[in-house]
Amino acid sequence: MAKVKFYTGESFPLEMHKVRIIQKLNLIPVEERGKAITEAGNNTFLLQNRDVFMDMLTDSGVNAMSDRQVAAMMYADDSYAGSETFTRLEKSMKNFFGCKYFLPAHQGRACEHILSQIFVKKGYVVPTNYHFTTAKALITVNGGVVEELIIKEGLKIKSDLPFKGNIDIEQLNEVIKKYGPDKVAYVRMEAGTNLVGGQPFSLENYTETSKVCRANNIPLVLDASLLADNLYFNKKREAACKDMTLHEIVLKFAELSDIIYFSARKLGFGRGGGICTNSHEHFLKMRELIPLYEGFLTYGGMSVREMEAIAVGLDETLDEDMISQGPIFIDYMVKELDKLGIPVITPPGGLGCHVDAMSFLDHVPQNQYPAGALGSAYYIASGIRGMERGTLSEQRDEDGKEYYSNMELLRLALPRRVFTLSQVNYAIDRLVWLYENRRLVEGLRFYEEPKILRFFYGRLEPVSDWQSKLIAKFRQDFGESL
Ligand code: F0G
Repeated sequence: MAKVKFYTGESFPLEMHKVRIIQKLNLIPVEERGKAITEAGNNTFLLQNRDVFMDMLTDSGVNAMSDRQVAAMMYADDSYAGSETFTRLEKSMKNFFGCKYFLPAHQGRACEHILSQIFVKKGYVVPTNYHFTTAKALITVNGGVVEELIIKEGLKIKSDLPFKGNIDIEQLNEVIKKYGPDKVAYVRMEAGTNLVGGQPFSLENYTETSKVCRANNIPLVLDASLLADNLYFNKKREAACKDMTLHEIVLKFAELSDIIYFSARKLGFGRGGGICTNSHEHFLKMRELIPLYEGFLTYGGMSVREMEAIAVGLDETLDEDMISQGPIFIDYMVKELDKLGIPVITPPGGLGCHVDAMSFLDHVPQNQYPAGALGSAYYIASGIRGMERGTLSEQRDEDGKEYYSNMELLRLALPRRVFTLSQVNYAIDRLVWLYENRRLVEGLRFYEEPKILRFFYGRLEPVSDWQSKLIAKFRQDFGESL
């Protein structure tokens, strides 16, 4: 992909694959989009996919598979115990991460559950570059606290720092001192840091983190769910990685880690998850919980077909042409929007394009969930669903007080190899229209609010009739058009 130079005009993303299976999309009229979002309680998670034109909710479990992956699914060995499929997956895991032990789990949060059951107790702390929703919820459920130690620049919307996902080493040392190393359950580093805009950390920063952990005898846990994007940026943006192969970079990260876990809904372009380690002691402790919560040790809740797909997907993760498609499309989308003055996180990261709702809707107060409101408005304007990544995705404290997020983002995920460049251009076009009409958008309030992970199934309503005004303006500007 990135290797092709263009003779005329400006360069643009060029796919190094062709599309051989298609799925028809449906774009319903704006009035129907208004009805659909009302029925969904202004929560994009609750929309029906048949009402969605481009699904930019997430890249989880919806990345396009390769022909090799689909072919591998056909020769899966279906058995509860000791299947050949598991042996193949285990072998490819051990080869990929250069580790001795592998435990299967049904998805990423299942690994987080096992880790927090084993390591986290009341009064314990988990320092992290930045939390992820499920990881944090599972740590706090076990009585632990999360300390977010991302470098200051990581929370700035506009920046040209290449590794905004780095952890602040000085603060890490301070937190370890404050709680005492015995009370640090583990240090969690998240590759391609999700909630701050898919921002990577450098190999240099990870090496420093590992040194601190080893000096204090604290396990270093790598959340490798978004490792593919992180790897791409290590290779492109970090001088020390320039001449390393992708596999050499992975092995270096693995050598510096004590435990690695991942959602295979992201890493490996499949659906599932797993935990890798070189420590026999950690392996034995975690192994006890797999048959209890996940399934027998040779499937851990995954179907054999998915396990075959992941094994091939991991192999493809070491191919730069395969992992560059996401970052290069995101780079295009972010740069086009930035040129047009639309507030987006820079530099472009992995996972998707992240719109800064706090600035896009600077007239909507944080207690009316600007990122959620922007998500609703954008669906009405385009039929595209994104995901709120802001205060709505947090949860209230024990006294019911709102916890305001550092950033209010509308995430427009780019599942790998799913959308074409013209669809991305459509997404940009509708966002431009919405930006010009942003004053019509107002906030949201809950009418059904779950206590834990409320963003998944909570329901909200607009604070006024702003959505009908937005629909009327759409009709006025677009006439009969969808
Ligand atoms: N860690 C990271 C960095 C993630 O992005 C996710 C999931 C998980 C762990 C949990 O994995 O979904 O397989 O249980 N992220 C999805 C998303 C939900 O849309 O960003 P899971």
